[in-house]
Amino acid sequence: MKFYLDTGNVEEIKRIVKLGLVDGVTTNPTLIAKEGRVFKDVIQEICAIVSGPVSAEVISLDVAGMLKEARDIATWAPNVVIKLPMTEAGLEATHQLYLEGIKTNVTLIFSVAQGLMAAKAGATYISPFVGRLDDIGVDGMKLVKELRQVLDQYGLKSEIIAASIRGIGHVEQAALAGAHIATIPGTLLPALWKHPLTDIGIERFLKDWEKVPKP
Ligand code: G3P
Repeated sequence: MKFYLDTGNVEEIKRIVKLGLVDGVTTNPTLIAKEGRVFKDVIQEICAIVSGPVSAEVISLDVAGMLKEARDIATWAPNVVIKLPMTEAGLEATHQLYLEGIKTNVTLIFSVAQGLMAAKAGATYISPFVGRLDDIGVDGMKLVKELRQVLDQYGLKSEIIAASIRGIGHVEQAALAGAHIATIPGTLLPALWKHPLTDIGIERFLKDWEKVPKP
């Protein structure tokens, strides 16, 4: 499973790129707003740091507006991916961008039907929101598992980005459910390499090392 960072924060990305753990980045208007910087500047900076796909979301709700934004964003960097909402207009724009050879990520997917529609329209990536489903008492990871089954069953090319990831358990379950990618908040990813027994183990080794006769 690939790891994307779900962030617009360049410092978070730089830290984790050094570990070879960033296969791509996803952003959304909320994450971009948190940075207080110009959208294009943030996306271009991220695209220069990360060689993998970087999702940048359109904000128009009509097809013409989405396509205008998408065609502009697509010129910002070779690895940029256009993120579009899962609506009728989003599907039409996704299909048109597919015909133009522009990569897309259809976001805000909450059902198998929505995921199937987006994949059939030609989305490069589909993003089921696991945490937000869990929030309303629906098993978000079940959706990831079922989407993978449907994509495989019909030979559809879209890749699943498990999004709205809230904890280590979600990352592990996404891998088990067959997500191609998990997009993980930059603040959460460091928690993945931490374990209290690792820290206790290091402490114990260092303590015992003091007993080793020194030359
Ligand atoms: O980028 C989309 C998604 O990952 C947002 O997550 O935590 O706002 O539901 P969240």
